[in-house]
Amino acid sequence: MWCCRTSDLDPAVLAEPERLGLFGDDDLRRCRRYHFDRDRHLFIAAHLLLRCVLSRYEPIEPADWRFAANPYGRPEIADPAISRRLRFNLSHAAGLALVGVAREGEVGVDVECADRHADAAGIARHAFSDSERRFLQGLPAEESRLAFLRSWTLKEAYAKARGVGLSLPFRDMEFQYGPDARIAMRLGEGIADRADRWRFEQFSLFDRHIGAVALGTPVPAG
Ligand SMILES: CC(C)(COP(=O)(O)OP(=O)(O)OC[C@H]1O[C@@H](n2cnc3c(N)ncnc32)[C@H](O)[C@@H]1OP(=O)(O)O)[C@@H](O)C(=O)NCCC(=O)NCCS
Repeated sequence: MWCCRTSDLDPAVLAEPERLGLFGDDDLRRCRRYHFDRDRHLFIAAHLLLRCVLSRYEPIEPADWRFAANPYGRPEIADPAISRRLRFNLSHAAGLALVGVAREGEVGVDVECADRHADAAGIARHAFSDSERRFLQGLPAEESRLAFLRSWTLKEAYAKARGVGLSLPFRDMEFQYGPDARIAMRLGEGIADRADRWRFEQFSLFDRHIGAVALGTPVPAG
């Protein structure tokens, strides 16, 4: 796992990312589309981090990485031979970019600002099971807000690792914290997968963000 804050970067890089010579035309086009500086800066930080991090795993220069989207829009390494042995996923929120890399299997990451006051009840209606909603409703307001964010980041991390986007029924995944802080996932019948091939970790970053990573061992062939 690797992370970077926009505040870690030289303002000159954020103002003129093309001068680094690391970004391709696609990246620069996407960069220019952001209306707000803070969103553009976060995009720059995230994609700079991604390119530099990937180059620690393969003898490829940061500027030479090429990406392609899978059918559900997940960016992956364009070269299939490299993509088979190196997976990544990216998340960004409120000034922080997080990159997860896995040598084998699947990886998904999600980060949210811990101050975020999302429409938890609205999202939970679509994306949380009845028992998860009952659990959240039984907690004091602030605890419930944080518990919502923790579950949400785990669900997003799993969905992003699966790489099938919005097609996964979020209410068919539930998470439980064991006594040793191990996180176990239970899957409903809407998701055809083996929950026991997944490992989850959850963490806070710089006292401001909540992050989660999902790591899946490859499904045995046959
Ligand atoms: C695509 C999606 C995964 C992005 O999640 P997000 O929380 O908005 O944003 P994050 O910062 O965590 O992730 C964005 C990054 O994920 C990656 N990404 C994009 N599509 C992806 C996909 N289908 N699968 C995995 N990763 C994806 C990209 O690298 C993207 O960053 P980039 O655009 O700068 O390259 C999200 O829109 C999504 O599918 N969410 C499903 C959850 C949902 O909305 N459920 C509805 C329940 S009511």
